[in-house]
Amino acid sequence: MKKLIKNNVFWVGKTDWELEFFHGADYTINHGSSQNSYLITEEKTVLIDTVWMPHATEFVANLASEVSLDQIDFLVINHGEVDHSGALPALMEKIPNTPIYCTASAIKSLTGQYHHPEWDFHVVKTGDSIDIGNGKKLVFVEMKMLHWPDSMATYMTGDNILFSNDAFGQHYAVEELFNDAADTCLLWAEAQKYYANILTPFSMLVKRKIEEILALNLTIDIIAPSHGAIWRENPLRIVEKYYEWSKDYQEDQITIVYDTMWDGTMRLAHRIGKEISLKSPATKVKIFNVSKTNKNDIMTEVFKSKAVVVGSPTVGSNILSSVGGWLEFLKELKFKNKKAAVFGCYGWSGESTKVLRERLTEAGFSVVAPELKWNWTPVDEELTGAAEIAAALCE
Ligand code: FEO
Repeated sequence: MKKLIKNNVFWVGKTDWELEFFHGADYTINHGSSQNSYLITEEKTVLIDTVWMPHATEFVANLASEVSLDQIDFLVINHGEVDHSGALPALMEKIPNTPIYCTASAIKSLTGQYHHPEWDFHVVKTGDSIDIGNGKKLVFVEMKMLHWPDSMATYMTGDNILFSNDAFGQHYAVEELFNDAADTCLLWAEAQKYYANILTPFSMLVKRKIEEILALNLTIDIIAPSHGAIWRENPLRIVEKYYEWSKDYQEDQITIVYDTMWDGTMRLAHRIGKEISLKSPATKVKIFNVSKTNKNDIMTEVFKSKAVVVGSPTVGSNILSSVGGWLEFLKELKFKNKKAAVFGCYGWSGESTKVLRERLTEAGFSVVAPELKWNWTPVDEELTGAAEIAAALCE
């Protein structure tokens, strides 16, 4: 069922309460999500984006109950990823000659995924516009690498709506549709998790793109992303937040991440946490066992941190695979301007801290010199080294 956004603009997407994972299993969904598609019925009838392939049949049927499909004058595909373009083949079966407006890169991604080079593609670039009647236009803004080469946003004049696609979205199911009706705490937590886990590697581009869009002096009444709540109340607040997050964001927080075999490395983690609190009582300290805590939630905490402390016991001559896998994800996110320190227990050879040091350096962290490497089981009264790490990270 369509939902009114403003005047002749409607939401026709899918609220997906059942979704548990996204990007394979790389992103865990805790509060549902949505794939937002928008129908504009001005003098021209326009559909912006579709939904994920498993919902294609339902999507096309719902759309057909709201508008005669052959009345759709054209489609705008802001981004080719399958969660937004997945229903395109089913829709194009019904209306095969309908023009599709998208970036040149999107023709490649759509053709590569769906193998229909005969579709009536029309390339748009930043600043191009299409008149949709009643004095309104759609204006296109390329958003290259935010987060795919094909990404773009579409701005509707008159109603002043920015259809921003993935940017400013959240994996968060909101039946109420708008930010002012949603659970505010969850909304902002999910928006930050989305930025931290998906957009962090592109922060420099986010910053430049926001500066470019703000310089256009557009009036923006609504930001309608392709996932989650639509920003209707104070829509520029999320733009300001993105700008803040794009500038190597950090709070006065240190996050400790570890895994442990027989609890020795866990005890080191907790001792380091205590020493940081003693050294700097104002600093927030968070401690996570990487095998017991969701990796996306840990990454959101790393995003907020000025430093991370990573621990693993030595296994063979390496680190535990749980920590190794997590470090691979950490590297992918290209965090900048954060310190790190390492720790771990060992029985005989003790390579884990060296491996951790190398992996964190590769991931772009500035690893401080003190480390806590402990032979066999730590005894609290004898344990040294944690205070030195705290001092180096709290400088
Ligand atoms: Fe990049 Fe929501 O897809």
